[in-house]
Amino acid sequence: MPKVTFKNWNKTVECPPDTNLRKLALQHGIPLYNGVSGVLNCRGLGLCGTCCVEVIPEEKVGPKQYMEVLRFFQIKGNFRLACQAEVRGDIEVTKREGLYGTGKEPVKG
Ligand code: FES
Repeated sequence: MPKVTFKNWNKTVECPPDTNLRKLALQHGIPLYNGVSGVLNCRGLGLCGTCCVEVIPEEKVGPKQYMEVLRFFQIKGNFRLACQAEVRGDIEVTKREGLYGTGKEPVKG
């Protein structure tokens, strides 16, 4: 089973292949959202972009969905929308600062 390490929170969990990353995080008490986006988010529809996380290695999650391609065409790095990402292998997940979680520094867990 794939292992997912949420680096900000120093927590590693296992999940079946193809598990939705957002659902996995929320099941394990990982707060994926920064600030007001904890309340004001699209609840996993891929519309708001606030569930954005850095995933390493990115190839261990499923291919980018249409909404992610639109969201990230200008953003560099291994960022993914957690609500659109399916876990396919061992990954490390980091939430960064900013409303969308694409800032330079990781948030403190
Ligand atoms: S929860 Fe809104 S884009 Fe993922």
